[in-house]
Amino acid sequence: MKKFEPVIVGFVCNECVYAAADLAGTTRLSYPPNIRLIRVPCSGQVDIIHILRAFENGADGVFVGGCLPEQCHYVDGNIKAEKRVEFLKKALMALGLEEERLSIHLLSAAMGIEFANFAGEFTNTIKKLGPNPLKNQKSLSLHSNHKRMIMRDLLLSISDAFGKEGVKFQAVFPGFGEAILDENKCIGCGACSYVCKDEAMTTAIENDVILINNTYWKCTACGRCQEICPKDCMEIREEFDLKRFLKGEVDQKAEVGMLACERCNKPFLPLMMAADIEKILTDKAQSTDFVGLCPTCKKFHQAEKVRAISGFGGNLKGIEALKKVSKQKGRA
Ligand code: FES
Repeated sequence: MKKFEPVIVGFVCNECVYAAADLAGTTRLSYPPNIRLIRVPCSGQVDIIHILRAFENGADGVFVGGCLPEQCHYVDGNIKAEKRVEFLKKALMALGLEEERLSIHLLSAAMGIEFANFAGEFTNTIKKLGPNPLKNQKSLSLHSNHKRMIMRDLLLSISDAFGKEGVKFQAVFPGFGEAILDENKCIGCGACSYVCKDEAMTTAIENDVILINNTYWKCTACGRCQEICPKDCMEIREEFDLKRFLKGEVDQKAEVGMLACERCNKPFLPLMMAADIEKILTDKAQSTDFVGLCPTCKKFHQAEKVRAISGFGGNLKGIEALKKVSKQKGRA
């Protein structure tokens, strides 16, 4: 039988581990030829997606190499890399892939011997584990420009390969979370969906209600919705839930009734917002005539008001024509 020779991909920082590997070579230290190094400016630039892609493409083991603690040339890239690797190890383990296949190693440029030792030990570990079970799996991951979508597709393809749909894994990890909304306070203004750059918060009008929805796997817990909410009803909970992330469900967070236009009867404004507007106008002793009218009908109402005040028929033909169009559109 052919002896198993693993393929190991190492994403290594140019400033330290790459230099350490170079030093190991120039000082004629030998380390297994199974290691393929990919040089990056800093280990902090190695994303979860890069690691998952390496596994998807058949790497039997993957490691990230960074500078020693407090020696990262970009301040905290190595710390970020450590957090990512630890998080991903747990997620992969929950999905069925051995966590030992992923590792992080921090070294300085002068540690050529240590690099050669680590390369030997890691290769032996992977040899014991055997080939990557995902190697012969047909990849299900899509090629998209959306980073979060790529990550989800890659994790989904691993989950499918091991048949772990109902997997449970929760952890606090920066960039993952959920906007929790207090339904009793929400007035359905939709400001949260307006500012959500990730399209996690969305609004939909159904019959005479406005629905505020949240897509869990898209939320990056950036907190914009919390900042903009005029009623202080949003709270960000930072937590990664693998099961929900993979499921890709859309949660309904609030349902607010809509005010129907007095003229065309179409719902156009959340009831509670209308009440707020009416109160503000009343407090300022201003007319509340237009509150119950949608923007289109408001224009007709204004035109009619001007005509009534001036006593002048104005361009009656034009007004009748507008009414006709409005009727055709079901707004009359
Ligand atoms: Fe080496 Fe950041 S520069 S880990």
